Amino acid sequence: MARAARLLLAALAALLAAAAAAAEGGDAPPGRIAVVGAGIGGSAVAHFLQQHFGPRVQIDVYEKGVVGGRLATISVNKQHYESGTASFHSLSLHMQDFLKLLGLRPRRDVVGRSAIFGGEHLVLEETDWYLLNLFRLWWHYGISFLRLQMWVEEVMEKFMRIYKYQAHGFAFSGVEELLQSLGEAAFLNMTQRSVAEALLQVGVTQRFIDDVVSAVLRASDGQSAAMPAFAGAMSLAGAQGSLWAVEGGNKLVCSGLLKLSKAHVIHATVTSVALHSTEGRALYQVRHESDAGPGSDFYDIVVLAAPLPPDDSSGRFAFEGFAPPVEDVRGSFQPTVVSLVHGYLNSSYFGFPDPKLFPFASILTTDFPGFFCTLDNVCPVNVSASFRRKQPQEAAVWRVQSPAPLLRAQLKTLFRSYYSVQTAEWQAHPVYGSRRGFPRFALHDQLFYLNALEWAASSAEVMAVAAKNVALLAYNRWYQDLDKVDQKDLMHKVKTEL
Ligand SMILES: Cc1cc2nc3c(=O)[nH]c(=O)nc-3n(C[C@H](O)[C@H](O)[C@H](O)COP(=O)(O)OP(=O)(O)OC[C@H]3O[C@@H](n4cnc5c(N)ncnc54)[C@H](O)[C@@H]3O)c2cc1C
Ligand SMILES: *[C@@H]1O[C@H](CO)[C@@H](O)[C@H](O)[C@H]1NC(C)=O
Ligand SMILES: *[C@@H]1O[C@H](CO)[C@@H](O)[C@H](O)[C@H]1NC(C)=O
Ligand SMILES: *[C@@H]1O[C@H](CO)[C@@H](O)[C@H](O)[C@H]1NC(C)=O
Repeated sequence: MARAARLLLAALAALLAAAAAAAEGGDAPPGRIAVVGAGIGGSAVAHFLQQHFGPRVQIDVYEKGVVGGRLATISVNKQHYESGTASFHSLSLHMQDFLKLLGLRPRRDVVGRSAIFGGEHLVLEETDWYLLNLFRLWWHYGISFLRLQMWVEEVMEKFMRIYKYQAHGFAFSGVEELLQSLGEAAFLNMTQRSVAEALLQVGVTQRFIDDVVSAVLRASDGQSAAMPAFAGAMSLAGAQGSLWAVEGGNKLVCSGLLKLSKAHVIHATVTSVALHSTEGRALYQVRHESDAGPGSDFYDIVVLAAPLPPDDSSGRFAFEGFAPPVEDVRGSFQPTVVSLVHGYLNSSYFGFPDPKLFPFASILTTDFPGFFCTLDNVCPVNVSASFRRKQPQEAAVWRVQSPAPLLRAQLKTLFRSYYSVQTAEWQAHPVYGSRRGFPRFALHDQLFYLNALEWAASSAEVMAVAAKNVALLAYNRWYQDLDKVDQKDLMHKVKTEL
């Protein structure tokens, strides 16, 4: 009898110890994780969190709009077209991994030439012959072209170190620590000076910046050569290499990753995150609103994977019960309108009175006070083997990117006539100068802000890099593996670890 009682007591003590260890952290994985936002950042972080913490954690992903966020499509004339992010560059390693993992394919490339429009005439035209293009750039701009390439390559080479650090499990709790570790003081410096300043310093001419560099920045970011050099270099890298998109639509990556991570997608708007208790580990209460009314749930880890603009028209978002208060993560975003126009291009506007002779599929513009940034003859997201681009005199689907909705008169300028116009209005990219310094990834013990990195550069791949960083940060913090957080001199450590 006494023996049985002692065994029972021992068992009870073990249970209590386990409960205490769980309360203090111990080795138990987190029970529930909330992710706010189902764009590429939120979908990728759900996937990485599930990979690191294992299949037992429950991940809830809150989405107030549509899965995919800024990866989205619109249907025109029974076909679907990209209405947000159009493409990714060839060095997007996480995005390429996702594609393989999900069994998706890159869309077949349908070549088309581009030109840069200066408001009255074309300042640069691409030809069919690659060498001739290089020759023309050389002829027009001399060594500027080569210097630009070298500058971009140097930035990308350093940025790519992040993949090695992440493969070794290293994470950063702030954007500054991350940039410092990739490119030392030079990278941070590049977030504080303009593209124009940095390029002039390496010997690129003002004319090349005005004619070519600004057109590319306007097309990819809706911004000018006054934007920060770091974000600018990332955009210019995209314009150099080959670009790709996903067969069936870029947003398939998001829905695919959410499915793979077995995340529970909840269609609701998150209105606040409150610190519920700090006994042992922190516990967070996430409040949300949906058609079904208000609700709330408790989580061990919360990841915010949506930009937090200063004044969200769709409702305020609040942090509650944090002392000291959570830092201000807000900043302004650049509105961009994408219009998908099914119609006949007015080629006269670009100096081609005969539409049959208009040879371009894509027009970029320089910084003249124009009403549009780019004009592209676009292919649907599903490209069959027999697909060909429309002849310039035929009706086609054109994607126009502009800072504000196109007025009727502007549409009448760009198109001889049209059947339909459909638009998507975005808060596309950060207005980089609108806040001082960077928000941190770690806002509280286990509360993270993925989009902090968007303030250094904004692209789908950069958000995937931020997702991997936040998943590693949450994991390393949960298991107190602080040797893997904010380590200095990582290049050296990673080399000697191999
Ligand atoms: C027109 C356009 C063109 C672009 N072109 C390119 C390009 O060619 N290449 C490239 O790499 N990048 C491009 N970008 C940038 C790229 O789209 C973004 O950097 C990236 O998609 C951001 O992903 P995200 O997941 O961080 O944010 P988002 O995609 O914005 O996702 C955030 C999600 O959170 C949801 N959400 C927000 N608040 C709440 C809340 N309170 N509760 C619940 N849900 C919420 C939103 O509905 C949204 O779905 C482009 C962007 C735009 C708009
Ligand atoms: C950045 O570097 C340049 C030269 O390398 C220097 O002139 C400039 O002052 C630096 N700017 C900042 C903000 O550190
Ligand atoms: C488009 O492509 C996707 C991905 O390959 C595929 O699942 C879908 O069935 C295709 N749709 C059509 C209409 O061909
Ligand atoms: C087309 O462009 C020309 C040249 O800019 C302009 O005169 C004309 O009004 C435009 N619209 C149409 C419908 O031709």
